[in-house]
Amino acid sequence: MQSRVEALLAPSVVTLGTSGLGDRPDAVATARSLLTSQHRLVDTSNAYDEGRSEQVLGQAIADLGGLPEGVQVISKADRDLATGVFDRDRVLRSFEESTSRLGLDTLPLYQLHDPYTITFEEAMAPGGAVQGLVELREQGAVGAIGVAAGPSSLIRQYVQTDVFDAVLSHNRYTLVDSSAADLFEAARRRDMVVFNAAPYGGGLLAAAERAGADARYAYRPAPEELLDWVHRASRVCARHGVSLAAVALAFSTRSQVVSSTVVGAGTAARLAELDALLAVETPAEVWPELESLGTPPTTVTD
Ligand SMILES: NC(=O)c1ccc[n+]([C@@H]2O[C@H](COP(=O)([O-])OP(=O)(O)OC[C@H]3O[C@@H](n4cnc5c(N)ncnc54)[C@H](OP(=O)(O)O)[C@@H]3O)[C@@H](O)[C@H]2O)c1
Repeated sequence: MQSRVEALLAPSVVTLGTSGLGDRPDAVATARSLLTSQHRLVDTSNAYDEGRSEQVLGQAIADLGGLPEGVQVISKADRDLATGVFDRDRVLRSFEESTSRLGLDTLPLYQLHDPYTITFEEAMAPGGAVQGLVELREQGAVGAIGVAAGPSSLIRQYVQTDVFDAVLSHNRYTLVDSSAADLFEAARRRDMVVFNAAPYGGGLLAAAERAGADARYAYRPAPEELLDWVHRASRVCARHGVSLAAVALAFSTRSQVVSSTVVGAGTAARLAELDALLAVETPAEVWPELESLGTPPTTVTD
């Protein structure tokens, strides 16, 4: 059965990620393609490219005469980038900035984004960032609130408060790292919407066949042992006529604990590639063959 928040957010299998959108020359045209695609959710944040991601989405929304029917843009509250301050007042200002750039009065979901300049206790205290989010939800300015970050131990603390409706983790539930599985299960038991971002580990698993010594996973240099595992996995996939990218995407989209997979789509070409990959059926034999390669080396420690 759909939870209240799932009904509100109507998550689609894929949410289009726009962290790499803001600084591209054809960004507004790409944003229009994202908003008119088959996918229903577009993810951004106050801080992506210092607000450019929200700005180009806002321009595209204006060009289209408003958000297309059934499409939702979700965003995130960010700290003051100059000072690191991330408290209630900053969250309210962040929301004003986001909605003004997007040209929207309300947002279906606003998430606490990368709360690394504050402790969990500071975020939860009266006057803290979470109070700001709760106030926005109480006023109806946002439909739901979430927490979006990397380290699982940090996110788990927020999930356990039962204050949040949604959670987003990245690079920790992929073909090579499923360390966020417990976190996602805990969130689902609480009826939260689970966003799994970066199913390609930020790029490595999208272009494994061409990955060389400078390859990165989770925005850091990929260790040699990981590259070795990825190349062997890639050969398994090729023997079955599929790309590792398609299988990496399917790993997340077929998961019962993931409500929506957030995939970076910074150009119209990437969007077209994504749609082609989503249409690929992974042969059943691929999964046990990948398992037989052994557990991939751990890359993310938390
Ligand atoms: N803390 C957070 O809230 C948080 C953190 C991480 C991510 N996210 C969200 O999740 C979204 C997805 O994350 P992500 O974009 O970092 O990771 P991702 O979806 O795993 O990977 C996207 C990256 O893969 C590359 N790629 C895709 N197809 C490729 C191909 N055929 N050949 C070479 N490279 C290819 C893209 O490169 P190009 O740049 O060349 O297109 C892009 O940089 C973000 O946009 C953001 O919305 C949120």
